[in-house]
Amino acid sequence: MQSLINKKIVLGISGGIAAYKAPELARQLMQEGASVQVVMTEAAQQFVTPVTMQALTGNPVYLSQWDSTIPNNMAHIELSRSADAILIAPASADLMAKLSLGLADDLLTTLCLARDCPLLLTPAMNKQMWEHAATQRSVKRLADDGVTLLGPASGFQACGEVGMGRMLEPAEITEQVIAFFQKKSLPSKKVLITAGPTFEAIDPVRGITNHSSGKMGFAIARAAVEAGAQVHLIAGPCDLSTPLEATGQITRTNVVSAKEMHAATLNAADCDIFFAVAAVADWGITKPAKEKMKRQGNQAPHLEFSANPDILLDVAKTVKIKGGKPYPYCVGFAAESTDLEKHADEKRQRKGIPMIVGNIGPDTFGSDLNQLLVIDTSGSKKIAKAEKLQLARQLIALVAKKI
Ligand code: C5P
Repeated sequence: MQSLINKKIVLGISGGIAAYKAPELARQLMQEGASVQVVMTEAAQQFVTPVTMQALTGNPVYLSQWDSTIPNNMAHIELSRSADAILIAPASADLMAKLSLGLADDLLTTLCLARDCPLLLTPAMNKQMWEHAATQRSVKRLADDGVTLLGPASGFQACGEVGMGRMLEPAEITEQVIAFFQKKSLPSKKVLITAGPTFEAIDPVRGITNHSSGKMGFAIARAAVEAGAQVHLIAGPCDLSTPLEATGQITRTNVVSAKEMHAATLNAADCDIFFAVAAVADWGITKPAKEKMKRQGNQAPHLEFSANPDILLDVAKTVKIKGGKPYPYCVGFAAESTDLEKHADEKRQRKGIPMIVGNIGPDTFGSDLNQLLVIDTSGSKKIAKAEKLQLARQLIALVAKKI
């Protein structure tokens, strides 16, 4: 699925070593369906060539406002008029200082001053430059002027130092640009999500678990951040990276067993919406062995199971009414092998929650695709087969109307 279809992005490149990431960024934005129009400062051309950017984007690269070979050299007005956003990556300390003062002494700064579209900056500089009071003044002024800053991150810098000021990676910038364009249906809402499987130890090397890649729960986490929420993601063992981590809008707690997931979730249950997406093991081993159990010929061991706590049920018990609405609004998930609607709705009523989402199987485990059946007090509604992120965005839009 492409998330930037029909988006026109002016990609500004200023002078800094992180400009080496700009070609890859242009490629990733285009892979998401965006059209990319590059504008480079003079210093940027010391790090990456206009020919590289032209070849990758298939568009002429604008370098100067004094180019008389361009039929309409009002590029500084025209480019922003047709753009959905100007994204500057890297944004150097010098460029940010100029923009914060409203200076317009080259094409890129003039373009920004004359724009009527959003401006997104991805700062990249040495940590001393980032921490300098002058840069921090620019950051504050730009934020006050409604400019969106993506990053910077902390880490290794080209100068050999380690610290704040590193430009985000192209994949992180692309993810944040996509998020920028999503509808903000949950501004500042607190969203709690359980995702992935749990793992119940038998001994230090063995255990039992459920089928769950965590993809659906992580997609909901991403869609919630995109919608403006502050997200707490409680994840069982799964091999997925935290979505939109660089936004600072998401916290992740990793857990292993159902009991750990229960404790972490109940601790964080003071929230607006709770999505119980995790495939929690219903039973754990009563007394896992401290050392690896040795094979006893052909004899199978006798394992004693005990029921795990029901996380969703226990969160549902904490629900209060705030402004006439349940707080948190609890959404359960159900994967059934037969009679999905009947079993899922029974589960919804038993757990005392307003909404449950059925996975219309059977091929959802580990897949990027899914089909959902949303059941609430007013009935059921199918969400047609699509990528999990697309489904998650639709689900977030539905739930946002309930709270
Ligand atoms: O396992 P079951 O089909 O009952 O799961 C239904 C819903 O309850 C899911 O949303 C799941 O995340 C949640 N659940 C839970 N704690 C359990 C079992 C299930 O939160 N111990």
